[in-house]
Amino acid sequence: TQASATAAAAKAPALPDAQTVTQVRHWTDRLFSFRVTRPASLRFRSGEFVMIGLMAPDEKTGKEKPLLRAYSIASPSWDEELEFYSIKVPDGPLTSRLQHIQPGDEIILRPKPVGTLVHDALLPGKRIWFFATGTGFAPFASLLREPQTYQDYDEVIITHTCREAAELDYGRELIESLKEDELLNEVIGEGFWRKIKYYPTTTREESAKMGRITDLMRSGEAFRDLGVPPLDPETDRAMICGNLAFNLELKAMLEEYGLVEGANSKPQHYVVEKAFLD
Ligand code: A2P
Repeated sequence: TQASATAAAAKAPALPDAQTVTQVRHWTDRLFSFRVTRPASLRFRSGEFVMIGLMAPDEKTGKEKPLLRAYSIASPSWDEELEFYSIKVPDGPLTSRLQHIQPGDEIILRPKPVGTLVHDALLPGKRIWFFATGTGFAPFASLLREPQTYQDYDEVIITHTCREAAELDYGRELIESLKEDELLNEVIGEGFWRKIKYYPTTTREESAKMGRITDLMRSGEAFRDLGVPPLDPETDRAMICGNLAFNLELKAMLEEYGLVEGANSKPQHYVVEKAFLD
């Protein structure tokens, strides 16, 4: 009927590949996280990313079209919703708009997950290192909630370097929440979180531990603090996600320790991915 056709049209999503925002949290004036509905058909491996965005006027024609960027999924593969952790760039084409989303709004989400920060790209080992700067924490927020991480490794070390102390809050809260995580406690066993060593550092504001993780490793301080030996290809596996300069510097350091870069098609000792910057 006419009436039901109108109702259906009113309910139809306004965007291609639309998903609905369910929650938004602002952590600092530069950082926010949000959750959206998950497409029923979407399967992904913890650590992968998808393209998300909004409709925006094309720079040349002014015509509305999808403006998309690669975002790591910050929620684990078993979660009913999808979570993302984002920077806000004042004049960033996407994030200047995306930072204003509210629950009930729609975003575009292309359901084609890809990425290299996955367990399949690493050979078995004893200890896994997750190295993040800034919003590069996002894929590790997924992997830290993934049971396989604790099934595969005896020790899980997460380092997070940010400019300011408040930029560590999202990660710290997430790590705290793991203690209460029902699935992980059930599947891995109570006290699984004692496998985790969290090493947050700041570079431009006073905090308990200051300095770039790269410098702290070079001096040996990070290994002394954590009570572990320097990285060794026999035992250690690593995933890197941060800004470009960080990724390149740390990659070179890992190669000096003798670790070899892996891929989905050829698992090795470490993998790298660039954190999104608008
Ligand atoms: P710094 O303040 O010394 O530049 P950004 O916000 O610019 O992406 O940086 C996030 C964090 O990554 C900052 O704490 C920054 O330190 C750090 N960082 C930037 N480049 C490198 C690098 N090459 N090696 C290690 N840490 C880095």
